[in-house]
Amino acid sequence: MEFAQWSPEYETGFPLIDQQHQQMFELVNQLQEAIVRETHPVTIKQLLQELLQDTMEHFTLEENLMREHDYPSYQEHKQIHDRLTRKIRKVLHAIETNEDTQVVNTELSHFLHQWLVHHIQGQDQKMIQFFRSKNLCLSSETVS
Ligand SMILES: [Fe+2]
Ligand SMILES: [Fe+2]
Repeated sequence: MEFAQWSPEYETGFPLIDQQHQQMFELVNQLQEAIVRETHPVTIKQLLQELLQDTMEHFTLEENLMREHDYPSYQEHKQIHDRLTRKIRKVLHAIETNEDTQVVNTELSHFLHQWLVHHIQGQDQKMIQFFRSKNLCLSSETVS
C-alpha cells in the first residue's frame, strides 16, 4: 500500500488542481520511499527540489485565481502556502550546507503528507466552494 494514498474525498472537481494535488502526493510517496531505503542524499535533494518546484507552480495557480476573483481569505491562504515553501526551502538549505543531516527523516514525509491532506480538505475546499458560489468554471479556465 502506498504511503500517501490519494482518496476521492480529496477531489475538488477541477481537473488541473486535482492533477497537481495528485502529483504532489506522488512526490511525497517517492520521498518517503527514498528516505526509508536510505537513498543517496543527492536523490533526496532532487526529489525535494522537484516537490518545491511543483508546489510553487500549484500555489501560483491557486493564488492567481484567488486574486482574480477577489477571494476574501486570500491573504490567509497565501500565508499558509508561504509557510510550506519556506519549510521545504529550509530543509533543502540544510541538506545543501550539510549543517543538519538529521533533517531528512520519515517525520518530514509524514509532515508533508499530513499538511497536504489537511490543506486540501480545509483551505482548498473552502476556496473551491467560493469559486463554485461565483459559478466559476475552473476546468476550462485552468486548462487553457
Ligand atoms: Fe492546493
Ligand atoms: Fe492551497
